[in-house]
Amino acid sequence: MKVLVISGSPRIGGNSDVLCDQFLLGAKAAGHETEKIQLGKKNLMPCLGCEACAKTGKCIQKDDMEEMLDKLVGADVIVLATPVYFYCMDAQLKMFIDRSLPRYQQIKDKKFYFIVTAADTSHQAMEATLEGMRGYTACLPGAEELGVIYGTGAWKKGEIQNLPVMEEAYAAGKNL
Ligand SMILES: Cc1cc2nc3c(=O)[nH]c(=O)nc-3n(C[C@H](O)[C@H](O)[C@H](O)COP(=O)(O)O)c2cc1C
Repeated sequence: MKVLVISGSPRIGGNSDVLCDQFLLGAKAAGHETEKIQLGKKNLMPCLGCEACAKTGKCIQKDDMEEMLDKLVGADVIVLATPVYFYCMDAQLKMFIDRSLPRYQQIKDKKFYFIVTAADTSHQAMEATLEGMRGYTACLPGAEELGVIYGTGAWKKGEIQNLPVMEEAYAAGKNL
């Protein structure tokens, strides 16, 4: 399968980015084709809501989204990863999601994993963030949620390294 990981954090090499790598290592070991996109390195503007794409199928903004959208449409498994910012997904991931509007109906029959990282240790406290991501996948035809990787209790960069979720992320990729 083609496994595409969208690492949403602006903190390159941060906690969610590290969990993305763990997931990819597992997926690679299982023989899948893998790719990670780090939104923090991309030129990405927010959706303007102009609806020009409804006629043309393309956004009027010329940035990195068009290429990323091709990859989304072509993937079998999509991992959406975000740090929790004020109990929501971060702005980078939300921009990415909104900018899939031109072709979201072509993001069909995909399997999804969600990765969230937060200082908070409670899984329950992640629900609002996850519901935001589920609001997206509910709009995509045939989307299936395979699971959630909770990188909770990790605040500073690198704190994730000592937590059992490192193994969980690897196993999730391996067992796809
Ligand atoms: C703007 C901002 C808002 C945050 N809000 C929360 C929050 O609401 N709850 C929480 O538990 N942690 C919060 N955090 C902490 C991050 O979620 C935590 O540091 C996480 O590990 C960052 O993941 P990353 O390294 O992948 O960016 C916040 C951090 C920032 C920078």
